[in-house]
Amino acid sequence: MEWYVESGVDILLEDSPIDRFSEVPPPPRQKVIQVSGHSPAERLAKKAENNPRPAPLIKPQAIMPDGAAVKMAEEIAAKTNTLKELKQAMSSFNGCNLKRTAKSLVFADGNPDAKVMLIGEAPGRDEDIQGLPFVGRAGQLLDRQLAAIGLDRDSAYITNVIPWRPPGNRTPTLQETEICRPFIERHIELVNPDMILMLGGSSAKTLMKTSDGIMKLRGKWVEVQTARTQIKALPTLHPAYLLRQPSHKKLVWQDLLSLKQSLNS
Ligand code: URA
Repeated sequence: MEWYVESGVDILLEDSPIDRFSEVPPPPRQKVIQVSGHSPAERLAKKAENNPRPAPLIKPQAIMPDGAAVKMAEEIAAKTNTLKELKQAMSSFNGCNLKRTAKSLVFADGNPDAKVMLIGEAPGRDEDIQGLPFVGRAGQLLDRQLAAIGLDRDSAYITNVIPWRPPGNRTPTLQETEICRPFIERHIELVNPDMILMLGGSSAKTLMKTSDGIMKLRGKWVEVQTARTQIKALPTLHPAYLLRQPSHKKLVWQDLLSLKQSLNS
């Protein structure tokens, strides 16, 4: 099981396992001469009736085409006037397929009145289980980074661009990101922080609408623009990346000092 989880295989699609080795290949197709009163289709229907397959555990598929899903997300996000309404709107939205495999809607954590809003990419396994952003190993590193500049979850507000965990922690697709964009943009407008810290390339690229890499973007203050507001924002490296590349912590330290200076000025 651990090996499967490590490999990213951590959701069940069926109630019971299927032994693919015991499946006998079908015989070569022959012309069917109908001798009894039952056609092959009728026999198949009968067989299915006698051996019903268990219903899959996953929720029904989002059937909206992507363009329609983006439009619907825009419409319902624009109608919300409080964080509670936004959370409610997101949990009733069925236009993003990531919702089918995720356990939770990971909305946010921390203080919505804080001066700084931190925005990551998408929940991972621990976040999906607990329903809170940045609670796994990367989140613990993030808490230590915040503590180093005198912040914690009472003085910062934390969320992600994507609120549902992508299966196996894969990178969200461009379509998934665009479907979720209206929600994160409305989230920013409703929190209306003094400044944003964008955690990692995915967050920075989405919010800055650029394809530049995070190594080029990090450390330079920019303005994040939504339909109704503009907030100063700093891109930095993602804490999960720092777990793999600890030598880059010094770059993030520079960014954190710059954030601290802005918060105190
Ligand atoms: N990585 C993210 O980008 N967000 C989380 O909430 C956890 C890990």
